[in-house]
Amino acid sequence: MSIPVLTIDGPSGAGKGTVSRLVSKKLGWNYLDSGSIYRSLAIAIQNTSVQVSDVDAIVEVASAMALEFECGDELVVKLNGENITGQLGLESTGSIASQIAAYPSVRAVLLKKQQDFKQLPGLVADGRDMGTVVFPDAEYKVFLTASAQKRAARRYKQLIEKEIDANIDEITSEIEARDRRDRERETAPLAMAVGALYIDSSDLTIDQVVEDVLNLIR
Ligand code: DC
Repeated sequence: MSIPVLTIDGPSGAGKGTVSRLVSKKLGWNYLDSGSIYRSLAIAIQNTSVQVSDVDAIVEVASAMALEFECGDELVVKLNGENITGQLGLESTGSIASQIAAYPSVRAVLLKKQQDFKQLPGLVADGRDMGTVVFPDAEYKVFLTASAQKRAARRYKQLIEKEIDANIDEITSEIEARDRRDRERETAPLAMAVGALYIDSSDLTIDQVVEDVLNLIR
């Protein structure tokens, strides 16, 4: 029996996570937050004091790590039995994740871990290369983006709400640097899949984006 897959790719901060979670709930499908797999590996290498430049050691850590995902109201992630949910969203985790994601051998190890999420009754997969590399045969594909300024403003608001000190200019430059790294890497760069529905969420509400994505499937 074929398992339907909806891929939602795009840069950080475009709203992919929120939209993917809401759409997967509405459809009753499974949800893959592929960024959290790269982020978990970033935490694993920090825990083992492996250098970001040591590709072979990173591949070893990636092959050995045991990840568990509990998708309740909030995504809970355990790395080798330890709850690492609180560290996943840190800027430092995202920055290391983006650097190690540039290594083809690291991506190769993480490929199967991501493809294993394809289970009945369906899957919503959120990331950078879901529609191009991980699930190229997906029936439904979306590319969700927003301007760097809008994404920085959303991130700034989230941090201030959590009472974390933040500087909008620093956030904008970090977002632009991350975009460049994700777009310009040779292996599986952030790119729109052929035939994907392009959505710019800069001036849309989350509900409007969710509606557009659900219309694609209906
Ligand atoms: O979506 P995110 O911000 O949680 O992702 C963190 C980093 O992981 C991102 O900068 C690049 C990398 N990543 C990737 O290379 N491929 C994916 N499918 C998802 C994330």
